[in-house]
Amino acid sequence: MIDKYGKLLWDYFRDASTTTHCILGAVSLYALYRFVMKKKYKLPPGPRSLPLIGNLLAIRNESMFEKVNQWQKKYGNIITVYLGPMRTIVISDIDFTLEAFVKNGLDFSDRPFFYSLHMFAEGSKSILTSSLGDTFKYQRKVASHAIRQCLSGQQLEVISHEVMLYTAKVIKSQKDPPNCLADTIILAQQELIMTDSSSLMHMTDVHARQTVSDVFRAAVDTTHSTLDWIFLVLVTKPDVQACMQKEIDEAVGENIPGKDHRSKLVYTEAVILEIMRLYPVAALGVPHLTRNDSVIGGHDIPAKTTIMINHYSILRDPKHWDDPLAFKPERFISEDGLLRNRSFIPFSVGPRVCPGESLARCGILYIVVGLLSKFSFSLAPGEKADFTPDTSFFAYRPADYYVVAKPR
Ligand code: HEM
Repeated sequence: MIDKYGKLLWDYFRDASTTTHCILGAVSLYALYRFVMKKKYKLPPGPRSLPLIGNLLAIRNESMFEKVNQWQKKYGNIITVYLGPMRTIVISDIDFTLEAFVKNGLDFSDRPFFYSLHMFAEGSKSILTSSLGDTFKYQRKVASHAIRQCLSGQQLEVISHEVMLYTAKVIKSQKDPPNCLADTIILAQQELIMTDSSSLMHMTDVHARQTVSDVFRAAVDTTHSTLDWIFLVLVTKPDVQACMQKEIDEAVGENIPGKDHRSKLVYTEAVILEIMRLYPVAALGVPHLTRNDSVIGGHDIPAKTTIMINHYSILRDPKHWDDPLAFKPERFISEDGLLRNRSFIPFSVGPRVCPGESLARCGILYIVVGLLSKFSFSLAPGEKADFTPDTSFFAYRPADYYVVAKPR
């Protein structure tokens, strides 16, 4: 029998073309590599995968988001999947996330290489695509400085007010929206070069340009999708809208919402946080890459493994959130103000935590406050509130919908 199959195999190899030999050789080498890795490391469990294509067939009809959540139910809170040949570990537990991204932050904070992103970022010169190192350090410093400048001045209030005016179409704004971040990043880069000349070789004009586009790329879609979720929830909850409006009227009145009012907008901010918890726009985060071998939750994590954090699942984990599927903004409110639950990580944690977190939280708050102070929102006639998320690629946003904004 063995002789028969051996002969068939031999005949096949003898007659096969060079291309077939190369493909079979590559597949065999890869299978051998996977076998050796399996023997050497005790990887987290996960679905069976094929050489080279890994688990890609499983996600051809479903989004990565849906599949990951199905696999999590079957294999647990830390799983191994193969996106093609790319070994990927998905973490759906806050303790494992903190162990990896905070306790072992430096080992877990590189980025995997994607050719398209590399090209898009002019050779991985953006913050989002760059690996840890001096250039990354300077770029984040410039971006964080610019973001802080924006937060400390009045620009954010002005921008949020312009959004309100634009949305309302009541008063037509004659001014161009101030390009606060772009200008501030360029200024911050010049300041950095003047105070630290060694930064010059790391922060070229290409890096500055990429930092500007980084901030816009990372800020616009996430903020937009978050606002989409917020208003989708609010149009279905007129009572919540009314409570927010009462608080806003008392705290802000006819003024432009700004940092002086924030401490009096506790309920409004808690509603926003609760919606961000239930509908996290970066549902699977942004992939990281490990630099060294580590152990997380008793599982081996080899160097050069892609790591994804399942924010969606962590933000609905019944171990850390009481009645996690219910809409309860009060869960964020304590007697002294807003509570911070350690599992609330829609902006991630560790060395690569979103540098725009404070700006996003303030900006979203001011926009929501500005709009609710002037309007009440309801679904447009014939519209249905559809909470089915669009999860194509890494997105997590609702489908477009129409609302009616009724002046108050
Ligand atoms: C609701 C709004 C936002 C959400 C939910 C969000 C979430 C995130 C997440 C999950 C990451 C990946 C962190 C990681 O790799 O572990 C990230 C990265 C980043 N975000 Fe945000 N973000 C938001 C708004 C913003 C804003 C307003 C800015 C800038 C003004 C910004 C700038 C960035 C940048 C530059 C990175 C890359 C950081 C790095 O690679 O080191 N984001 N964001």
